[in-house]
Amino acid sequence: MAIRLVILVLMLVLGIETSCDETGVALYDATRAPPAGLRAHALHSQIAMHQEYGGVVPELASRDHVRRVVPLVHEVLKQAEVALADVGALAVTTGPGLAGALLVGTSFAHALAFALGKPVIEVHHLEGHLLSPLLSARPPAFPFVALLVSGGHTQLMRVDDVGAYRLLGETVDDAAGEAFDKTAKLLGLPYPGGPHLSRLAEFGNPLAYSFARPLKHSGDLNFSFAGLKTSVLTEVKKLGNLCEQTRADIAAATVDAITDVLTFKAVAAMRASGLNRLVVAGGVGANRQLRERLDDAARKRRFEVYYPELALCTDNGAMIALAGALRWRKDPGCAHAPGSFDVRPRWPLIEA
Ligand code: KG4
Ligand code: ZN
Repeated sequence: MAIRLVILVLMLVLGIETSCDETGVALYDATRAPPAGLRAHALHSQIAMHQEYGGVVPELASRDHVRRVVPLVHEVLKQAEVALADVGALAVTTGPGLAGALLVGTSFAHALAFALGKPVIEVHHLEGHLLSPLLSARPPAFPFVALLVSGGHTQLMRVDDVGAYRLLGETVDDAAGEAFDKTAKLLGLPYPGGPHLSRLAEFGNPLAYSFARPLKHSGDLNFSFAGLKTSVLTEVKKLGNLCEQTRADIAAATVDAITDVLTFKAVAAMRASGLNRLVVAGGVGANRQLRERLDDAARKRRFEVYYPELALCTDNGAMIALAGALRWRKDPGCAHAPGSFDVRPRWPLIEA
């Protein structure tokens, strides 16, 4: 009994996420399968701080992570009723993301690991997103196709196991989240535009305009969203002053174009892979219109779709603690002694 207790305590992973504008901290028990291993998580979003600038200001983001990370660690330990000394390893996002923001989390994790005499596990931010649906009440089994749709990435991956990822296709220019955010900005909506554009679209007619769907019929699994922004900009300039209904119609037609292409390519990936589970992850995975469309396609084509809990779609520490814990369990050698470190603002997931 005493030995079992010691093993349990040593497998607690403290996850730290600071790659962009959210400071996330979580504690995951690596001895338990997801979702049961998640002991606690806490988040501070910087959205309100960046809103007045219309986008993320990297220097402000880094400084705010410095202020938030320690209180969030205390909050998580308190929630889980665990002492700092019981943490078995630190998992931290070391890329991709904003260099300064990544440095805050990574240097903090190394310093804390050094003080505790515990190892560090480096986590790829997208791997966190990819595995986040495992924390939902209905976790998917491997293998599955993953549609990763965030502010910085749009990718289709084949996922055979933790760490076994194959890129099927990706955006050649803007990410889906960027397409949401940039169009929202054109319509005068606050940052981050995705959820605002989605809400405005509810009042509009998606057929009022027909916006570009570049690469939809390219025959491969790549995406392109830069042309959509240009096509919306051209329409907005042509119209001049926009009344409320026109803004809603433009929002609806934009959301329609983005979700149409995402669904079309996701279905193509399901067909090409022969798999019957689709996992959707990343901030845009919270989008209601996208979920409706994917659910509809899944019903017609008889595959299952899995989403993270809404609160875990956007950046959070829970997915980083989980990814670190699953990696650690699979390969204990991935945890290394703290000390010298680096961050990787650009880091392809297949190299993780
Ligand atoms: O995954 P995430 O939190 O951060 C990155 O790793 O990029 O994704 C943020 C992106 C932003 O572009 C945001 O506008 C978008 O996700 N987003 C949404 C929704 N919620 C967040 N886009 C459309 N509809 C939403 N409900
Ligand atoms: Zn993210």
